[in-house]
Amino acid sequence: MATINLNINGKRQAVDVDPKTPLLWVLRDHLNLVGTKFGCGIAQCGACTVLMDGNAVRSCSLPVSSVANKAITTIEGISENGDHPVQTAWLEHDVPQCGYCQAGQIMSAVALLKKTPNPTDEQIETAMNGNICRCGTYLRIKAAIKTAAKS
Ligand code: FES
Ligand code: FES
Repeated sequence: MATINLNINGKRQAVDVDPKTPLLWVLRDHLNLVGTKFGCGIAQCGACTVLMDGNAVRSCSLPVSSVANKAITTIEGISENGDHPVQTAWLEHDVPQCGYCQAGQIMSAVALLKKTPNPTDEQIETAMNGNICRCGTYLRIKAAIKTAAKS
């Protein structure tokens, strides 16, 4: 066990955990931030995507010790009331089906639009490539990203 200092959604807090614990489980089990989902556990599906210093990363495969003092943003941290432009575009396009992958999809989209405010189709496909949706919402995700880019 070790004390790890974290910066999650702008709030500094310390957790006492095994330093090898994946960030995902610290978020879910220690900090009750359960919007970030577990899918594969091996960095292959994107369900657990969060932002680290603005970049989309897979929290299932990041030891918590490696993110100490980095700025981590989870789905809970992108807006107070679910009104981030990406979230409103998601609603407008009625993107989710089962919803399981969608927090990860939204976080990847947020990271993309921060770096590339007006992405081409190809840039969207490249950025979203690692986020799997078993319900096949890919076309609506792409349309929603384009709407969010305009707003
Ligand atoms: S649960 Fe992390 S990438 Fe699948
Ligand atoms: S909405 Fe069901 S897995 Fe993506």
